[in-house]
Amino acid sequence: MITFLDSGFSQLNDFIDQLNPGRLLILVDENTHEHCLPTLLGNLETTVPFEIIEIEAGEEMKTIETAVQLWEILAEFETDRSSVLINLGGGVITDLGGFVASTYKRGIRFINIPTTLLGMCDASIGGKTGIDHRFIKNLAGTFCLPAHIFVYPEFLKTLPSTELRSGFAEMLKHGLIADKKHWQELTSITQLSPEAVIAHIEKSMNIKQRIVDEDYHETHIRKTLNFGHTVGHAIESLFLQLGTPLPHGEAVAAGMICETWISYLEDFISETEANNIITELRRFYPTIPVDSSYFEKLLLLMSHDKKNTGSSIRFALLNETGKAGYHYEVSVENILLALKIYQK
Ligand code: GLY
Repeated sequence: MITFLDSGFSQLNDFIDQLNPGRLLILVDENTHEHCLPTLLGNLETTVPFEIIEIEAGEEMKTIETAVQLWEILAEFETDRSSVLINLGGGVITDLGGFVASTYKRGIRFINIPTTLLGMCDASIGGKTGIDHRFIKNLAGTFCLPAHIFVYPEFLKTLPSTELRSGFAEMLKHGLIADKKHWQELTSITQLSPEAVIAHIEKSMNIKQRIVDEDYHETHIRKTLNFGHTVGHAIESLFLQLGTPLPHGEAVAAGMICETWISYLEDFISETEANNIITELRRFYPTIPVDSSYFEKLLLLMSHDKKNTGSSIRFALLNETGKAGYHYEVSVENILLALKIYQK
């Protein structure tokens, strides 16, 4: 399911041979076109005809309009169900490409080659595809697994540091919810760099894969992966609406700080444990200023969260460092308290 590519991409070439597609479509954005596609094409050894499809980079592209354009392009290329779409990019490309592949002609096969840390450690794994709509992230989407995920960590060296920070937040989350040792290894990193994180990618990916294998449709333990995301998604949506989008991981890191504090307020962890975790998180992620006049708006956005049932706001929370639970109902009072503490 997940393969780390050697420098000749032989495992990818063998896999494509095995799939025996009538046509390959390679979805890229302008960044991966420039920085990653030459490496992929330089190593691709196939007689299968292929087409490159490029979209602009950015979360703003993850819309139904782009999906419609991509369906139309696939139709123009006479793509049939024997074709395979290769998603070469970060979370936007794998989410959107997966959505388009899973819905085009009721579904064609797709391969994810994540090129960002977030893509590698989170978005490409687990078969969640989707598009955003009216400032609500992943309002529409499908569960559909990629045929395979191929990882080439060298792609991380083409990224700005903001992208690395964004993905690192999800890695820290994996440690916090499921593996204390992974958390300790990650927080012993003093300076974030591709070299520093590459050694930990496989472990982080395996943590997510293990959780997804246990609960693909997110009826129980997969909900723990939403730790930090109830508040984080609300902050991300707010900033998108304000016209100043935040990298996903920065918003999730803010969410993890708030939700660690909520874990304390709800009596799951001690104040000392909460403070220790928050100190480490703040070392990598300084506070994102949010004026208290937006708190009501944030609550409204949280109430739209897909994890809720009925009208209550549900959270995944820490039970200890390295262990999380889910489906906890938290009072508005404690959510507001955590937002206030986060701003201090
Ligand atoms: N990003 C959370 C999940 O895939 O479940």
